[in-house]
Amino acid sequence: MAASLSRYLVEQQRAKGNIPPELRLLLEVVARACKSISHAVNKGALGGVLGSAHSENVQGEVQKKLDIIANEVLIEANEWGGHLAAMASEEMDSIYVVPNRYPQGEYLLLFDPLDGSSNIDVNVSIGTIFSVLKKPEGNLAVCEADFLQKGQAQVAAGYCVYGPQTTLVLTVGDGVAMFTLDREQGSFVLTQEHVQIPADTQEFAVNMSNMRHWDAPVTRYIDECLAGQTGPRGKDFNMRWVGSMVADVHRILTRGGVFMYPWDKREPDKPGKLRLLYEANPMSWLVEQAGGAATNGQQRILDIQPQQLHQRVSVFLGSKNEVERVSAFHN
Ligand code: AHG
Ligand code: MN
Ligand code: MN
Repeated sequence: MAASLSRYLVEQQRAKGNIPPELRLLLEVVARACKSISHAVNKGALGGVLGSAHSENVQGEVQKKLDIIANEVLIEANEWGGHLAAMASEEMDSIYVVPNRYPQGEYLLLFDPLDGSSNIDVNVSIGTIFSVLKKPEGNLAVCEADFLQKGQAQVAAGYCVYGPQTTLVLTVGDGVAMFTLDREQGSFVLTQEHVQIPADTQEFAVNMSNMRHWDAPVTRYIDECLAGQTGPRGKDFNMRWVGSMVADVHRILTRGGVFMYPWDKREPDKPGKLRLLYEANPMSWLVEQAGGAATNGQQRILDIQPQQLHQRVSVFLGSKNEVERVSAFHN
């Protein structure tokens, strides 16, 4: 019989000692929450979950009903187990400290409850992204500064993509494993281990409509790809852009490619669109664990010292040789 997520976690702990019981509980609870979000997503119009919630998050983005539902599902699932000290989310201005009525654990959970919001209503793949940190030792009360840790400090990271299949993708620092939701059994089943991203690719993912706003290194990289076989790259490239980071990254973990969301001139004061702590960091660690690379053009994303909870960052990630190429154009 194929291994369940629970079995994978137990056996990882036995072999590597990298998933203590509290972390296992945390990951199982996150998986359960993702299962519940997956069901809500699947009901769509029948469940009354589509459309706008007519509210805005701290980043000034209009929230969809599912953004809020997914956020609540993750909080309710995680607050009572005793494994967490606090949570942070794209959809909450500040951190959510575990209420006094529950015991406090030593982990911090960060998430993008629903990634790819613009794709919800059009029935295109969306997902949940999460990152797990340890609360720094010493200080008693958990605070926002506890979350401002480099991506390299993550103890677990992953996402769940709600597409034709619901797939949970996880790393605890020992490679990347994928689990497919078996709806009859109601459990995540291990369907791929030791995920590897090929170092070379002929596929890129970027929102081309922003091209006129890009910086020279990004324009140069894409121009060279577009020049195809007779250009400097000597090969033709294909383009894929779902518009949900989870789905685009999932494709890259499955068959390679390079994903970019660079800084652009539309809002020059913002370093990029994607958020460092709950989008770029977990995705970057997954990609590195699968043999790929992730930078902001200048430096490895996992080395960036965060200054703010909702900080944004430029992102270049995926097949190693392509990420190195576009990064070299920046330096
Ligand atoms: P979110 O739905 O969590 O706000 O994230 C959306 C992100 C990301 O998933 C995607 O890569 C990007 O926004 C697409 O944005 P544009 O359509 O503006 O390029
Ligand atoms: Mn997102
Ligand atoms: Mn989101």
